[in-house]
Amino acid sequence: MKPICDLLEERVLAAMAAVGGAGAPAVVRPTQDGRFGDYQANGVMGLAKKNKSNPRQLAEQIVEQLDVADMCEQPEIAGPGFINFRLKPEWLAGRLLEAVRDPQRLGVDAAENSPVTVVDFSSPNIAKQMHVGHLRSTIIGDVIARVLDFWYGEPSKVVRQNHVGDWGLQMGMINVGAVIQALKNLSGEKNVQEYGSWEKLRGCIPLSEMVFNINELEWQYKEVNIEIKSDPWVENACREATLNLQKGEPEETEFWKKACEVSLNACHEIYEQLGVKLGLDDVCGESFYNDRLPGVIEDFAKEGLLEESEGAQCVFLEGFKSKEGEPLPLIVQKSDGAFLYATTDLAAIRYRVGELKAERVIYVTDSRQKLHFEMVFAAAKKAGWVDDSVHLEHVPFGSVLGKDNRPFKTRSGETVKLKGLLDEATKRARKIVEEKNPELSEELKDEISQAVGIGAVKYADLSNNLVSDYVFDWDKMLAMEGNTAPYMQYAYARVQSIFRKGQIDIDELLGRHEQLELNEPEELQLAKLLLRYGEIVEAVAGDLRPHIMTGYLFELAQAFSSFYTNCPVLKADEAVRDYRLLLCLQTARTIKHGLGLLGIEVIEQM
Ligand code: ARG
Repeated sequence: MKPICDLLEERVLAAMAAVGGAGAPAVVRPTQDGRFGDYQANGVMGLAKKNKSNPRQLAEQIVEQLDVADMCEQPEIAGPGFINFRLKPEWLAGRLLEAVRDPQRLGVDAAENSPVTVVDFSSPNIAKQMHVGHLRSTIIGDVIARVLDFWYGEPSKVVRQNHVGDWGLQMGMINVGAVIQALKNLSGEKNVQEYGSWEKLRGCIPLSEMVFNINELEWQYKEVNIEIKSDPWVENACREATLNLQKGEPEETEFWKKACEVSLNACHEIYEQLGVKLGLDDVCGESFYNDRLPGVIEDFAKEGLLEESEGAQCVFLEGFKSKEGEPLPLIVQKSDGAFLYATTDLAAIRYRVGELKAERVIYVTDSRQKLHFEMVFAAAKKAGWVDDSVHLEHVPFGSVLGKDNRPFKTRSGETVKLKGLLDEATKRARKIVEEKNPELSEELKDEISQAVGIGAVKYADLSNNLVSDYVFDWDKMLAMEGNTAPYMQYAYARVQSIFRKGQIDIDELLGRHEQLELNEPEELQLAKLLLRYGEIVEAVAGDLRPHIMTGYLFELAQAFSSFYTNCPVLKADEAVRDYRLLLCLQTARTIKHGLGLLGIEVIEQM
């Protein structure tokens, strides 16, 4: 089914065209206030201004031409020329029944245009444990990929890309760090100074003697950073190790492979725990683009876009200025020949558009990378790799803060590791379950705590406006009241309990009815919201702002609540009971589906 908004839009456009306003936008939106009907067309004023005609008169002419009698009451004109639409209960009822009969897509058609879309998200760096800084990209990117997958329909047009930082100097650094650490472990030697070069150092420890778990790798990386400061040769060693890796020397390559494997496995444990759909085959890290970097420089050179500045190769792009008002270059190659983060991203765009045939590329990172992406996008366009048919979109987001409104840290001031954070979420949820429902089986308690704890962390993140920072607050996110995951999960479980209590066979219920009736205002309100689901999915797919979905689900749960308070379900007369059960059914399905797009699980009882 087409979203109601689109249906009305088509009709208004036709009426506008009939009065000589072809091509002008109709601007149909749901109304904020039910007193003005359900939808409103705001395009008349714009057309009147263009035609220099009286907007109210024009609105009257348009309404005369409007053919909406099947779905709406007589449209009303309000204010300077708004057209208000109120949907007919019979029409709503018929449509709802259609949606009810579509358990897979809930009456939401797949988009007419489904561009091949790359979603670049999570993208942590190798040899470090995932920490709270990776939470938002991972959660938000997962939601964007899920929503687009549903909206674009089968076959999937969404390509998930985990652009992990697995290349560059840090890879040499962990190699040096691992060797030094192994030496110390073996000989208790505190002083490694006497080795003096990577050449001497690297041969003396075989791979099998090095420790490769993620904690060790991270520790070794930190240590080597300290070592660099006291022993200047260590820095050179890191450079040499990196260079050897980039040249494909077997020893450094072996080490690198092992380190990547260990780190990625640790990341994927987190993805699993988080319930994020991102597989090992979605990993396409910086190293993948190594062979493609010289091509980037060649292309820029061919287009005459390279300029040398202080020995570095740069691209100057219109509109980018430093604080001092000087032209700001995008550096693509350093004076020592090394490539940069930006060069890799340029190679990635070229690959994604040129080889993956992406028509939309979405990058989910924090807002500090805004300028980076603006410049990289502009450079890719200037090089001619990307034309106007391709959309490059950066989805920037704010930081996670602690209760003190500063970046979220542990008490001792360290970055918060995701593993610990997620374990704590489940633990806290478990405590609530124990209090509320001590009689449940251990197994069920575990299941519920997992869904509620992880769901709470995700929902709290997603329900904020993306660009704002937000405060990480356990009590708030785990509250049973308010716009939280537990509240939504509870709303779902509550509807399910109606079906259990009434021992309702859903297939039978669905088979019993050729029609549906909506009479009470709460029934109508709930039906209207249920039928807006497609519009919401479309809005999230377009704007990439998940809080549109959380806001909608919250509104839906509240509408259900007032419906349930005012309209008895199981106690109602047979026909009415069935209509109301269908409303319950569609509410439960919509909550489950919507939460599913947010990567949040429902539970049958709480
Ligand atoms: N690894 C980067 C970081 O930790 C994020 C990469 C984002 N994706 C990209 N194509 N640059 O900041």
